[in-house]
This record gives sequence, structure tokens and C-alpha cells, in this order.
Amino acid sequence: MSEKNTDFEYVNKIYKYIKNNMSVEFFMSKFHINFNELNGLLELCHIYGKKVEIINENGNLIFKKNPPRIITSDKVELNSNKLMHTEICIVSDTHFGNIHQQLHLLNKIYKEAYDRGITTIYHCGDMVDGNYPNRPEQPRQQFLHGFDEQAAYVVDMYPEIDGITTKYILGSHDETHYKNGQATINEWISRCRKDMIFLGQDTATVMENGVKIVLDHPGGGSAQSLSYKPQKRIEILESGIKPKILLIGHYHKSYSFVYRNVRGIEVPSFCDKTQFQQKQGLLNVVGAYFLDIYSDSKGNIQYFEAEEVLFDHKDMWDEAGKDYKRVKKLVI
Ligand SMILES: [Fe+2]
Ligand SMILES: [Fe+2]
Repeated sequence: MSEKNTDFEYVNKIYKYIKNNMSVEFFMSKFHINFNELNGLLELCHIYGKKVEIINENGNLIFKKNPPRIITSDKVELNSNKLMHTEICIVSDTHFGNIHQQLHLLNKIYKEAYDRGITTIYHCGDMVDGNYPNRPEQPRQQFLHGFDEQAAYVVDMYPEIDGITTKYILGSHDETHYKNGQATINEWISRCRKDMIFLGQDTATVMENGVKIVLDHPGGGSAQSLSYKPQKRIEILESGIKPKILLIGHYHKSYSFVYRNVRGIEVPSFCDKTQFQQKQGLLNVVGAYFLDIYSDSKGNIQYFEAEEVLFDHKDMWDEAGKDYKRVKKLVI
């Protein structure tokens, strides 16, 4: 295993172990490290996009994971058997068929989910790169052209792990196949992959331990501000039927926030910046989210932590075509 992979897995383990309000002294004695070594570890976490701060609270040094997400109360008893615990993973915008796809990083996230005992992964759309007749440059950016090649690739190559179900919506790029010829990749995925469940085109509502979650794949362009478009998505939700969590694909950005009492997550992609995004000056982020949720019997969230796992350029196989030429299907 490469040093890079070892670092990534090590950071994930450390970050998972650290809890908000955990005593720094306890952590150092548990792992037999001094303060300088601890700072080195936190710096490594920071490099991988996981921010952990040490703060002084009443003379005690404690950890704060950023962003801290205790919503309802500081005094939630997480071990209480009155609360239900949900751990899920969220991915989006895999754009299979584009030469910039990063399937090997998606595999890494699925392996991590498997190691954590997660059984459900949500995908927020743009499973494949599609086919836009009005983007003549698109075929040059693809190694899979047309519906058959892209649908078959999902069936053949999407990570397949015993015990993990992928629940997905389709997005704007997937829909081009329908617009071009009424072809839907979900039809072929459903026939061939029992571990992949189609939820809907553009949007779907699901329940996890009574917590209402909406998956959303908006169309249209991106905005320069991270918060503007997702806030607009929440503004159009009617108050009586609002979800507790809104997962938004399409923008290829990473952002979590709370607005109108909805926890919103903009879910990053698994495709490096494309020529189209480059020309439009659009930001592109690659990564995923792990959500840790404790909810009560009414489906209200008592504790919520959105753990962002981001990849930077050195993690990507950016040499054109390397991912699709070399990646192997993950099967466990
Ligand atoms: Fe996309
Ligand atoms: Fe999209």
C-alpha cells in the first residue's frame, strides 16, 4: 500500500476517534503522544480537509471538530436508548464516461464505508456523463459515448459490496439520455444490480430511522457564492413538509450549513474539473460526506455531524484516461 493511502486511512481513523469535547489529555495518554506530536497529527488531518481545533474550556483543553454540529442541545445523552443512531455516506456526480472520472476514489470511500459498518450510501445524481447535443466538445472529453456504453459501465464497474445498498437519484447529465431518446439508465441498473435502488429523477424523499431526508439534483448553472443556491433550494420547501436534511448534488462543491432548521449539504463530485467547468470558471471539489445522526422517536435530530472527506489533486489520477484505463471494480 502506498504511503499516501496509509496517510489517508490513518487520518480517517484519528478523525473518527476524536469526538467533540473529548479531553486532549485523555487522547494523548491513550496514544502515548506528546503535545507536539498531537499538533503534527492535527496538521495531517487538516491537509486531508478534516479540521480539528483545540480550545481551552474552563482550564481544560478539549477538541472541537469543525464544523461542530450539536444542534438541539449541548447535553444530549448519545448512549441513551431513547435515541436512534444512523450512519450513512453521501456521494454524488460520478460522471462515468468522462475522462476525468475518479472511480478509484469512489472505491476508496466505499471501502471506508464498509470498514465503518455503513450499510446505505446515497448518490445525488449525475451517475453518468450523458450526451449533450449542444456541447460539441463533449465527446472528446469522454471515453464512453452514448447510452449503451455509459449504462453498461455503471452495471459493470460500480462498487459492489456485500451488505451495502446504494440508493440513487438521477441528475441533469443522466437525463440527457432520456431527452435524446427516452433511455433511462435506471432501467438497466435495476435489472442487473440488486444492490442499487433507483429513487427518482432529480429528487426523492427517504426516511432513515424516522428522519426525513430529501435528495436533490437541481439543474441550471452554479453560483459564485457557496450558500446562495442551496439556500434558495431550502426557501422553496414548504414549512410543514420540510425535510430535516437536504442533500444537494449537481454543484460539485462541498458545503454544509443549517438554514430554516434544515441541515443542508452540498455534496462534492467524483470527477476532476472538466473542460466545460474550466471554461465557465467553475469550482470543482472531489469528495464525499459521512453523516452521523442521533434522532428521537419523532424523527427530530438531536445530534448531527457532517464529516467531510475531500481529496486534493495529488489523490486524483489526472493524467488523461488513467482512471478508466487502470481502475478495477471494487468487489467485497
Ligand atoms: Fe454533475
Ligand atoms: Fe448536474
